[in-house]
Amino acid sequence: MLVLGIESSCDETAAAVVRDGREILSSVISSQIELHKPFGGVVPELASREHLEKIEPVVDQALEKAGVSLKEIDAVAVTQGPGLVGSLLVGVCFAKALAFGLDIPCIGVNHIEGHVFSVVFENPPIEYPALALIVSGGHTNLFFIPEAGKYKVVSRTRDDAAGEAFDKVAKMLGLEYPGGPVIEKVSLTGDAHKIKFPIAKISDGKPDFSFSGLKTAVSRFVRENEIEPVAENQTPSQEIKNIAASFQATVVKSLVGTMEKLALELNPKTLIVAGGVACNQSLQNAARIAAKKLKLPVYFPSKHLSTDNAAMIAAAGYFHLQRGEKSDLRMTADVSMRLQNFENEDAELKKKKVRYRL
Ligand code: KG4
Ligand code: ZN
Repeated sequence: MLVLGIESSCDETAAAVVRDGREILSSVISSQIELHKPFGGVVPELASREHLEKIEPVVDQALEKAGVSLKEIDAVAVTQGPGLVGSLLVGVCFAKALAFGLDIPCIGVNHIEGHVFSVVFENPPIEYPALALIVSGGHTNLFFIPEAGKYKVVSRTRDDAAGEAFDKVAKMLGLEYPGGPVIEKVSLTGDAHKIKFPIAKISDGKPDFSFSGLKTAVSRFVRENEIEPVAENQTPSQEIKNIAASFQATVVKSLVGTMEKLALELNPKTLIVAGGVACNQSLQNAARIAAKKLKLPVYFPSKHLSTDNAAMIAAAGYFHLQRGEKSDLRMTADVSMRLQNFENEDAELKKKKVRYRL
């Protein structure tokens, strides 16, 4: 079965052709990073206009690279949400029109579920239950996945997403957008033990994340120590490198520490770390160490599948199509779409004494 995946939830216009949910025949990504760079973040209006320009050539290119014609496509899978409304609508409208014209099924996919499925291409089949840490610019959640397609949020961020914290701290330090890859690079020659930044503790005892306090702590440190942000085209000072490395280490410790704690309580058979931040090597190394201690396999997507792409959307769409699910033409963008459908079996989790949120 050939699924055409389409992704346009934020600042990447992407299309991919995937066979049987596991074999990528093509994956084309048109990134808007350069367009948004001068603003230090994604400008929603510019993003949707750019998606409109790019969606058709990107889909054409994906078909061409896969060596298939539109007529050979069996179904279209598209990101329905969460994301920016204008951006999502471009993909959703395009996908629905295409599927209607070709008289093939169309399925709306949750972007976060797409990130979970990003690990299926280059890893052994996932053994359930799984525990998935999804860390991106817009989301930071830990999902307990008792079986494929069932999700329970067992930890979430109370404020900023981890990727968002990377982006904001980079901006504060005068580093480029997006901040994640730049902070990672700068940290390589920084001392991660130089500065002790706090890891937020949630007062109600739930195993949730919070990165806003850390961001404030970095800001205060920069101000109190009169540290100059990196000027344009200048190399970062050792102080900046140390701040970046210490910040990164704190985020990694918080993410992996919580994943480890919940893995001990929930006894999953597989750990998954996915989303844009998952390509961070320091995060991957820490997750590997934790997985080894827990005697569990940990799966990451490869770099081109960590950040937003359409192959993961096609894979998640294929899973739902196989179960006989599809969307009808009333399907539309859902900006705050959630991934949590394991509500009725709360008792099972309660038995495991998890202080999850309702
Ligand atoms: O998954 P993604 O492409 O988009 C969303 O769904 O949000 O993730 C983008 C985020 C950005 O915040 C970016 O700074 C972060 O992922 N990111 C990284 C790295 N590469 C991208 N964060 C830390 N280290 C990296 N190497
Ligand atoms: Zn994403």
